[in-house]
Parts: sequence; C-alpha cells; structure tokens
Amino acid sequence: MCGIVAYIGAKEPLPIVLDGLQRLEYRGYDSAGVFISEGTKQQITKVVGKVAALREALSEKEVLTSKLGMGHTRWATHGQPAHENAHPHVSNSGDLILIHNGIIENYDILKKELQQRGYQFQSETDSEVLINWIEEVQKTENVKLGKAVQLALNQVIGAYGIVVYDRRNPEELVVACLGSPIAIGLDKEGFFVGSDATPFLDHTREVIYLDDNELALLQPGKTIQVRKIDDDSLQTPTVQQLKWNLENIQKGGFPHFMLKEIHEQPNALRDTLRGRLLAEEGKIQISSFNEHHQKFANARRIIIVACGTSWHAGLVGEYLIESFARIPVEVEYASEFRYRNPIIYPDDIVIPISQSGETADTLAALKLAKAAGAFIYGVCNVVGSTISRETHSGMYTHAGPEIGVASTKAFITQIAVLTLIALKLAEIKGTQSKSELRQLLFELDSVPDQLESLIEQKEKVKEVAEKIHAAPNCLYLGRGYNFPVALEGALKLKEISYIHAEGYPAAEMKHGPIALIDEAMPVIVIATRKGHYEKIVSNIQEIKSRKGVIIGIVSQGDSAVKEMANYCIEIPESSECFTPLFATLPLQFLSYYIAVLRDCNVDQPRNLAKSVTVE
Ligand code: M6R
Repeated sequence: MCGIVAYIGAKEPLPIVLDGLQRLEYRGYDSAGVFISEGTKQQITKVVGKVAALREALSEKEVLTSKLGMGHTRWATHGQPAHENAHPHVSNSGDLILIHNGIIENYDILKKELQQRGYQFQSETDSEVLINWIEEVQKTENVKLGKAVQLALNQVIGAYGIVVYDRRNPEELVVACLGSPIAIGLDKEGFFVGSDATPFLDHTREVIYLDDNELALLQPGKTIQVRKIDDDSLQTPTVQQLKWNLENIQKGGFPHFMLKEIHEQPNALRDTLRGRLLAEEGKIQISSFNEHHQKFANARRIIIVACGTSWHAGLVGEYLIESFARIPVEVEYASEFRYRNPIIYPDDIVIPISQSGETADTLAALKLAKAAGAFIYGVCNVVGSTISRETHSGMYTHAGPEIGVASTKAFITQIAVLTLIALKLAEIKGTQSKSELRQLLFELDSVPDQLESLIEQKEKVKEVAEKIHAAPNCLYLGRGYNFPVALEGALKLKEISYIHAEGYPAAEMKHGPIALIDEAMPVIVIATRKGHYEKIVSNIQEIKSRKGVIIGIVSQGDSAVKEMANYCIEIPESSECFTPLFATLPLQFLSYYIAVLRDCNVDQPRNLAKSVTVE
C-alpha cells in the first residue's frame, strides 16, 4: 500500500517528509519520491527503490530550503515500479502536484477524454490521470484548487487518499479521501498529513482522521476547513489525542500484522473485485481476457503451478474452473512440475499463482511452460514482480502488501481472482446460463460485507483456541471446495504455532488418519450445509465415536453438527463455491489465537521467509 506524507508550515519540511516516509516503510513499496517548494521554486526527486536511495539522490543535489514538502512511497498498482510511475505527479501545465493512494477505476475513460483535449502523459498511472483531470476541471470551471478537486472527485470512481498542491497558491494544501485513509496532524506552526499518523508522531499527537468523502483545506495560521465532497456541506472535524506508540500505529492498533491483515480481508476483496465484477450489469470485465479471447476460448487444459498457500488457492481454482467452465485443470506443486518433464501443449494455459511474484520454484515452472509454448496467465499480488513480468498476461490480486509471513489476505484474494476467471470462462464457453451467472455475481458481490460481519465471530474462535492450544496435533477435514481450505487451515496452524497439523479430504479419514483420533485430538471439520453435508455429518459421527474433540465450521443455523460437535463456529450460508471465502476466516483466527497463546512469533515464525527466492 502506498504511503503519503506532507507538511506545510514553519518547520523545515524535507526532514519531516523523509523521516515520515521511512516510518511508512512497513506498508511495503517499490519506489519513492518527494516534492519541495519555496515560492516559485520547486524540486521533485524520485527513485525506484527505498527511502535510503531517495536520501542518497537528494544528498547529491543542492536542496531548496522550503515551506512545503510532499512525499510518497508507491506500491505499484497501475504500471510497473519505474521512475516515471513514482509520485509526486505533475499536471501538464506544471502547476498542480499530487500524491495519491488508492485506485481510480475509471481512469481509462478519463485519460481518453483528456488525450482528446490534448493532454499528454508521462506515466502509466491512474494518479497522473487524476491530477490532469483536476487541472482540466480547474481550467474549465475557473475555480480555486479546493473547488476543482471537489468537482473532479465527484466524477471519479474508485478509492483515493490524496494531497494536492497548486504552485500559484503556495500557502495551501488540499487533502481528500475515500476508501484510503488520511490523517492530519495539527500544531501551532502548521499541518502534517499522513496515510496514517506514524509519519508525524514525533511532532504532534493531535490528529484529525478525515472521514470518507471528505476534503480539507490546510492553510497554516488558519483553522482547518473540512467539507463533504459530494454535497459540499461543512463538517466539524474531531481532534483526537493519540496515545498509541509507533509500533501500534503501524499495525493499525493490532498487536500483529497477521491479525491486521486478517481484518483487512473484506476491503482487500473489495479491491480485487472492483471494476471487474459488474454485478448490476451481470458482467465480469477482465481486460486481459479481451486481448487474449481466442486463447481462452480454445484452451484445451489449464495447469496451475504454485507453492504453499498459493497452491491451496490453486486447488480451489480447480474446483471452480472445472465446475463452471468445464475445462480440465491440473494443479501442480511448482517444485515438482519443474523437474518432472511434464507434458505441455501449445493450447494449454498455465497459471502461475504467487503472492510475492518472486517464488523461485513457481518462476522456474513458469519458464519451463513458456519455453514449451504454453500461454502463461499469471495471478500475482506484487505489481512488477518477476513472475508478473515473465507472464504473457494476467491479473493482479490487489490485496495490498502482506507483511505477516503467514499468508492470509493473499489467499482470499487469489480465490476471488480464480472465481472471476472461472465465471468469465463459463461466460465465454457458454457453460452457464446468463441467469445462473447473474445470480452468482450478485452473491459474490455481497461477500465482502458478509466477511465483515463474520469477523465479529472472532471472540468465539478465541474461546476455542483457549481450549485446544496445548494439543500437540490437529486434524483438519473438508470436502469438495473446502478440502483445500482444510489444507490451508492446517498449514496456517503449523506455520505459526508449531503444532503438527494435517489437512485431509474428510472421506479419506477412514483410510488412515482415523487411527490418530482419541480424546486428545482436536479435529476441525468444515461442514457447510451446501456441499456433501450428509456425508460430512457421517464423518463427524465417526470422529465422535472415537472421542475426538470436534470443532465444526458450520453454516448459520446448523443443528445436526452442533449436536455432535464440542464447539461450532457459524459462517454465512452461501453457494458451495463461495464457502472457501468464508470458511478460511475462522481457521486463520484459530491459528492466530493459538499461536499467541503459545507465545509464538506470529509475524515471523521460525525458519520461514516471506518470499522463498531460493530452491
Ligand atoms: O509468494 P508466493 O505466493 O509464491 O509464496 C508461496 C509460499 O511460499 C507461501 O504461500 C507460504 O506457504 C506462506 N508462508 C503460507 O502462509
């Protein structure tokens, strides 16, 4: 996620901005830039890489003494990590400067319109479109910056946290937000801005958090003015006194990044679906599918290659694609695929899935398939990563940076992307009726909100964790779509709590693992009403007769499993294909709380790395 820092006031802004950017490094980023201004003089410095490199670049310059500074760390979403894509962005006239967090969904339409009016673009970013759109509005309406920003934002679809500066009016900064937070720090001499409060915590503890759809004018010496972007109504902002320490703020008040990232999943999912799932229109829009329509229409087979959690998402993808689009899918461990001389046809589509986009085995599997002539369609989270660059085409998951080593929001968003792919393929192949598809799209659209409510169940999960955290082993069972979820639940527990755990298809239990069951064995069973329910109920009976401790993940209002299980967590009732999106969440919470109770290092478990870039 990008980071924003700005300062306007009597202090020297550059050190504030640079130190602030350094504090935002925890958010993850690939390029950085600063803008400083003194009267008519301005300087922009950008680098691909870290804030340390930005400091170095600045040390080689004669730097202005200034009154205003803006800085940005960019996590690429539109366009690769590159100098021209780094922020700040400047409008065509050179008058307006912008830093932006978020995604402008309709940037393509706005860009075309601006190009027709003669605007030129240096970058591939949606942010450069936004600053020029503001400029165009300002010119045509002949208004001050604040009004121009407000009018322009009313025409924008998407999410943003922005800081805008007009060099013709150097005493003012305009900030606004919708779906991407903006914190404003106040002191007697000026205003600080951050995408959270970490950048300015040393300077002030007085902060205003802008609400969504709010715009503020920051003019040193004057009272802050906050308005609603849509109806122009004046707001009375609440000034809060921050009591948190730095680490707390970086983690958004959560004790661990993993917990923060679990909570971020509803929003991450919204970002994944935004602009792609058009439920009202009954459509899925994936631009890369239009470009390669023939490849998808003629695909003989899909091979998914991945490792770890991404491989589990791939397994869910297999169920989705085969069931909806009727195209055969194979899911391979990338590490096995690359060394086993696999058969690859030119009309195969190979989908490497990777959060980091840097996993060595997945990259090698991709290269092998590419050399054999397959079409490579990647699913990655990190924009501009090696895997995303090596593919012919693909989709980003837009989960935002994942810092906890245990993958959480990457998994959910990978499943969401695979769902979109499966449904789009079904549309292309005509394997589902229009009305069936429409129904599914509506349901998918409601998942982020339902996930939000599901998070409220976490206290119940915590109670279960308290009961079973001392167990040396755990078994996870699921069928159909939820077999991969069982695998993922077991992996999460192993990774962060060091409890030995196994995931199994529930019916396989009687072929071996049942021998392990006794009163000391917690068995987590995903038993949603849609999807082999009766069969799972029989499996649960088998566990009960062997005195296993049963933890059921059940659909809302379930009664049969509840009668037998020791503990139950309810998830929303949904079509079977969407149950992984819900069933995963309690399993993430369970492993998290167990790890905390066992005093484990949740975010950096022993022996593990976030990106496995070696074999
Ligand atoms: O970055 P990738 O998705 O390619 O990473 C693959 C695995 O290394 C990763 O999912 C790993 O299993 C995680 N630690 C799981 O939480």
